[in-house]
Amino acid sequence: MAILITGGAGFIGSNFILNFIQNSKEDIICLDKLSYAGNLNNLNEAKKKSNFVFLHCDIGNSKLVLETLTKFKPRAVINFAAETHVDRSIDSPKEFIDTNIVCTFNFLEALRRYFDGLKSDLRDKFKILHVSTDEVYGTLKKNDPPFKEGNSYKPNSPYSASKAASDHLFRSWHHTYNLPTLITNCSNNYGPYQFPEKFIPLFIINALNNDSLPIYGDGQQIRDWLYVDDHCRAIMTVLERGLLGETYNIGGNSEKSNLEVATILCETLDELKPRNDGKSFKDKIIFIKDRPGHDRRYAIDISKINKQLNWAPLETFESGFLKTIKWYLNNMEWVKKIQSRNYKDWVNKHYK
Ligand code: NAD
Ligand code: DAU
Repeated sequence: MAILITGGAGFIGSNFILNFIQNSKEDIICLDKLSYAGNLNNLNEAKKKSNFVFLHCDIGNSKLVLETLTKFKPRAVINFAAETHVDRSIDSPKEFIDTNIVCTFNFLEALRRYFDGLKSDLRDKFKILHVSTDEVYGTLKKNDPPFKEGNSYKPNSPYSASKAASDHLFRSWHHTYNLPTLITNCSNNYGPYQFPEKFIPLFIINALNNDSLPIYGDGQQIRDWLYVDDHCRAIMTVLERGLLGETYNIGGNSEKSNLEVATILCETLDELKPRNDGKSFKDKIIFIKDRPGHDRRYAIDISKINKQLNWAPLETFESGFLKTIKWYLNNMEWVKKIQSRNYKDWVNKHYK
């Protein structure tokens, strides 16, 4: 059997593949268009395995997607592929509409054609999980209860609006065409292989380069942080035991303001990699212009996945954060390569 992962060269997709392939003999097909955020170096360990296949492909290319599905006959598809950075969606929303809505529609159509043509033994087992975000629910005030699955969608950024649209497409393809879909809505992830434009890796790398640590606005915006391995385990749990047509919220029970995260990050680096001048990295924190439309608070109610599927995060923020900082300290070569982009030579040589 096989499992097809889209966006597997990105942050969460690559962590998912690396975790999955450790314990499975099943074929794992990674389909990724290698946008600026896709990085084949994330998959170096997977590339050594004979059950790993990489395909350079856009989810919007329905012809190639259908050929791939027909060739490998996966029992499951997990859709990580997306444009994901909120700031980029504000600067340049079109790519978000193109990938997260139009390409996702093309992808669903390929999946529908594949599913409709399946014989009943494969058809009965087939499942598609669409990975989405808590940002579709909008923003919370300080004392609001955390997001539940039944909350209405109130996306505030071009990114979250495009993800909300993709969720609606998946939902309606299930309702109308009986496509066997599941949706997960997760909070902020952190961990190894995260593209260094995102808050935590950006701050670690800036600190190590002696650059400033730019906090948007007053830094009192709250996110619920989840270690990426816990997210990957939750996705596998939903894929194996979730009810088709349902959505599941995933979160870390770990609300922190951005300023708190930055402070913990600086204090951890002060211990692990002290500055030569003996000062704290906290000196490097600066406050800059806020992100337009910046959501104030996200928080996730995980009682559904916890009670129905028996999933809970294993890492605390403290344990996951320490692992993450140590990973970046030990993988500066990865950072240098992603920043120079010369890793694309590997793609040209092996996959074109
Ligand atoms: P990422 O930006 O690190 O990786 C995205 C991957 O998708 C890249 O490898 C990229 O090349 C690929 N891709 C983009 N457009 C594509 C297309 N048209 N066809 C094929 N591949 C394409 O993203 P991430 O942080 O790993 O997020 C993965 C998924 O999880 C996204 O759907 C995102 O919305 C969701 N999510 C992320 C977080 C988070 O905190 N990072 C939290 C909740 C949900
Ligand atoms: O909530 C889930 C979402 O989390 C995912 O769906 C998105 O794909 C993912 O990018 C993330 O979105 P955020 O906008 O929350 O993540 P980001 O890392 O960009 O920012 C985290 C917080 O830190 C946010 O409140 C903005 C703030 N920030 C970010 C950067 C890059 C700063 O204060 N300074 C910065 O330089």
